[in-house]
Amino acid sequence: MDAESIQKVYNNYAVFYDIVFGKISEPGRASAIKRLQLRPGDHVLEVGVGTGLSLPFYPPYCQVTGIDLSQEMLRRARKRIETKGFTNIVVERMDASGMAFADDTFDAIFAAYLITAVPDPWGVLSEIKRVCKKGGLIIFVNHFKSRNRLISSVETTISSFCSRHLGFRTDLCLSGILNDRDLRLINRERISPVSLWEIAEFQNMKGQPWI
Ligand SMILES: C[S@@+](CC[C@H](N)C(=O)[O-])C[C@H]1O[C@@H](n2cnc3c(N)ncnc32)[C@H](O)[C@@H]1O
Repeated sequence: MDAESIQKVYNNYAVFYDIVFGKISEPGRASAIKRLQLRPGDHVLEVGVGTGLSLPFYPPYCQVTGIDLSQEMLRRARKRIETKGFTNIVVERMDASGMAFADDTFDAIFAAYLITAVPDPWGVLSEIKRVCKKGGLIIFVNHFKSRNRLISSVETTISSFCSRHLGFRTDLCLSGILNDRDLRLINRERISPVSLWEIAEFQNMKGQPWI
């Protein structure tokens, strides 16, 4: 899975993305954005903003920047911004593994269904920490590899097929992120008891000891 093939997959998905993934994945976006506890004037970055399905959940008093690799996904996000008249939201094409933002630009960072869709999750995580201010919240909504041995072995087996043909991997463990000493876990929960997706909320400690 490389940046070019990811772009191709999501450029193709863009036409039907909202119909297939819109409603089913909506509860995760809404409750994660509530958890960001955004205050007036806060600047939040959404990484992998896609078609902008989460944009209506941001309060109008904060500034939102969304980035994505796929021009076709972004085209739909821009249309949504225009149609809804969101004057506090901008989106741009940028690779999350090499962001053009300065260190400590954002008060909070949100990434929904993104971290398993990127070719280099650890590079993206490092960029997210860099551009987020110290103490800022970083929230992921994602599927992570199951702790059940049987399910996780299926997830490992199908992962390379999924990443080549569907644009996401199924073998990423949350423990990799949990072991990051810059990130303090605030909360981790399943969106619903039967959901495949979890919300994982961290505070960016940037080297400040917290253990
Ligand atoms: C499964 S979609 C999720 C879209 C959106 N967050 C949502 O909630 O529907 C994953 C998105 O991540 C984007 N993406 C993948 N790799 C990326 C990268 N390296 N930098 C920026 N965006 C990336 C894809 O283009 C796609 O729009």
